[in-house]
Amino acid sequence: MLIDIIAGARPNFMKIAPVIKAIQAKQAEGSALRYRLVHTGQHYDAAMSGNFFTQLGIPAPNVNLDVGSGTQAEQTGAIMAGYERLLLQAPSQLCLVVGDVTSTMACAIAAQKLRIPVAHIEAGIRSGDWSMPEEINRLVTDSISNWFFTTSDVANENLRSTGVSDERIFFVGNTMIDTLLANMPRLKKPGFFDELGLRAGEYIVTTLHRPKNVDQQDGFADLLSAIADAARGLAVVFPVHPRTAKTLHSLGSLPANIFLVDPQPYLEFNFLVKNALAVITDSGGITEETTVMGVPCLTLRDNTERPETITLGTNELIGTNPAAIKPAMDKLFDEGWKRGSIPPLWDGKTGERIAAHLDRLLLG
Ligand code: UD1
Repeated sequence: MLIDIIAGARPNFMKIAPVIKAIQAKQAEGSALRYRLVHTGQHYDAAMSGNFFTQLGIPAPNVNLDVGSGTQAEQTGAIMAGYERLLLQAPSQLCLVVGDVTSTMACAIAAQKLRIPVAHIEAGIRSGDWSMPEEINRLVTDSISNWFFTTSDVANENLRSTGVSDERIFFVGNTMIDTLLANMPRLKKPGFFDELGLRAGEYIVTTLHRPKNVDQQDGFADLLSAIADAARGLAVVFPVHPRTAKTLHSLGSLPANIFLVDPQPYLEFNFLVKNALAVITDSGGITEETTVMGVPCLTLRDNTERPETITLGTNELIGTNPAAIKPAMDKLFDEGWKRGSIPPLWDGKTGERIAAHLDRLLLG
């Protein structure tokens, strides 16, 4: 029983690592589950891809489709054509996709059209915001998946409301959190930490890469000034995504307390987050990690597909207006931030639960 595990972009890699480990453990117990790791090549730099394989002990991909960069449609088309070619030469029995990146949707379509069933990890989450490519990827992927592995009860409800029957939904928890919990003892201080004079609880981490926040020079510059001003002189450490780097280069000088660093490897990035006073981000996955680490998180978006990070966790939606940042930071400094709790089943055992379901579903 061969399962294709699809990974293409940075936020996929921490989600597949525990599933691969759990399938390997099943094999060691005598299960006939087999996997083939397919990297689409959507992210290709060492900083965005290779480092994650090394640090998280993910085996080298069996296949790399090497699609590289492009527009949404170019990437989707290239991934579909490459993956279809692979399936025609050497079919698998299940296509297992994770998250919401272009590779997720493209491989799900290619597989389902060849009547290879699709299972989606992190299924059912919805922001309702069709201006984000990730939301389109979620809607398409879930509309053609056979099985749904979910992170929350809200996701279960979203799926039920579109007519998915309960026996196809498996509420298993969060594989990204499996990876985080497994690696907490291994987090690594980045080389620049002492050079910049950073001290635990006395700096802010920011990550921004959503087109809405970083693609327009003026708006992006205003956001950065607002963050720098609201930080009350604390250092703001900003690991820069390649998309963000393009606009940053054209901005000229930045506020003196903003420190740009390269995209960080997994262990260094989460060391930074764990020890930060707060995180200001437009990422979705980071809001889950800050929730589990109990670190205050201010999200510069108008919506989220991960509402439990707000209702249970440490996340707050601040919106994308720079004027909203100072009041939120004042609240953090003057009144303190909610402490939050960890959502149900985010317990480090999600990969095992998924492997057990796969074993039963495929091998009965
Ligand atoms: C993608 C995901 C997003 C995720 C993000 C994390 C989609 C629709 N979006 O967005 O959900 O949060 O990854 O990183 O799949 N680039 C490099 N090196 C690389 C990869 C990309 O320089 O290894 C450049 C590309 O040339 C491109 C830009 O970064 O100009 C954006 O990359 P792309 O993969 O298209 O989308 P992301 O914005 O990274």
